[in-house]
Amino acid sequence: MKILGIETSCDETAAAIVENGSKLLSNISASSAPIHTKTGGIIPEIAAREQTKSIIPVIQKAIFDAAVDDRRTVEADFVTIKWARENIDAIAVTVGQGLIGSLLVGVEVAKTLAWVWDKPIVPVVHTLAHVYPNWLSGPPFPEFPTVVLTVSGGHTNIFLMEGHHSFKLIGETRDDTAGEAFDKIARFIGLSYPGGPAIQKLAQGGDPKSVSLPRPMIASKDFDFSFSGLKTAVVRQAGVKSYKKKDLAASTQAAIIEVLETKTLRAVEKYKAKSLLLAGGVAANQMLRSQLKEKSPVPTYVPPVELCTDNGAFVASYAFYNYFTIPRNKIFAQADTYTALGKYAKNIYRSS
Ligand code: KG4
Ligand code: ZN
Repeated sequence: MKILGIETSCDETAAAIVENGSKLLSNISASSAPIHTKTGGIIPEIAAREQTKSIIPVIQKAIFDAAVDDRRTVEADFVTIKWARENIDAIAVTVGQGLIGSLLVGVEVAKTLAWVWDKPIVPVVHTLAHVYPNWLSGPPFPEFPTVVLTVSGGHTNIFLMEGHHSFKLIGETRDDTAGEAFDKIARFIGLSYPGGPAIQKLAQGGDPKSVSLPRPMIASKDFDFSFSGLKTAVVRQAGVKSYKKKDLAASTQAAIIEVLETKTLRAVEKYKAKSLLLAGGVAANQMLRSQLKEKSPVPTYVPPVELCTDNGAFVASYAFYNYFTIPRNKIFAQADTYTALGKYAKNIYRSS
């Protein structure tokens, strides 16, 4: 089964074609991040406009790349459309959560294509789709039950997955996400957006023990997080004494990662997980990747960095393993997580 996955929840315009959930036939994306770097963060209206400009060329190129055998013979546009009509079995699209103006672009284009080509449409919840690079880089595939740490700009969640279709949310952030903490502190230090990679780079030469920072909620028995106080702590420390930027960066990175890692490994132990998965944009962080792998008592999956950040491939892969279609006129963009989870994802529940 070949699925076209479309992702436009934030600043990436992405499309991919994936066969049977794990074979990548194409994976294309265009990012408006360089524009947001100049403004120091995302301006939703600008992100949505860029989505509109990029969506058709990105989808076209994804189909063109997947149709590799046919395209040599006939003229490109014609082949693209003919191949898509004949070969794509379903269209999957991120319906939420995310920036509403950006989401609308992907959802409405997906709906239009589904109508014109008469294909089923699969609604996809972004935070769950983020888990699926772990199936795109196999075999081997993770064994269930598995604990998943999803860390990005939009979410910081720990899921217990007992199988596909079964996501138990056992922990989440109560305020800022880990990605937001990286981004906000980076901005304070004077680094550009996105802050995570910038902090990682600067931290290389810094001393992670130089600035004393809290480890929020590290000792709490639940699996929730709280990162909003960390930025205040960095600002306060920087006001008391002047630190080198690289030391602030290294200490910030160490604080965020220690909390993520401690709680995730505790969840692995409590739920007797057979594997551990890392997902989301922050999963690109080298320290998080290597430390989790080193300390985890079970097989630990850390997908390639290029699949961790937003892309169409994880949307298509999620849709294959969690296949569920609804009438084309019943699909809408949903900005907030809980409406998206409740409306479009079955068998997701918050543990008591
Ligand atoms: O998954 P993603 O591309 O988009 C969202 O769904 O949010 O994640 C983007 C987030 C940003 O906050 C960015 O700073 C963070 O991922 N990030 C990193 C690294 N690369 C990206 N954080 C820490 N270290 C990195 N190397
Ligand atoms: Zn994301």
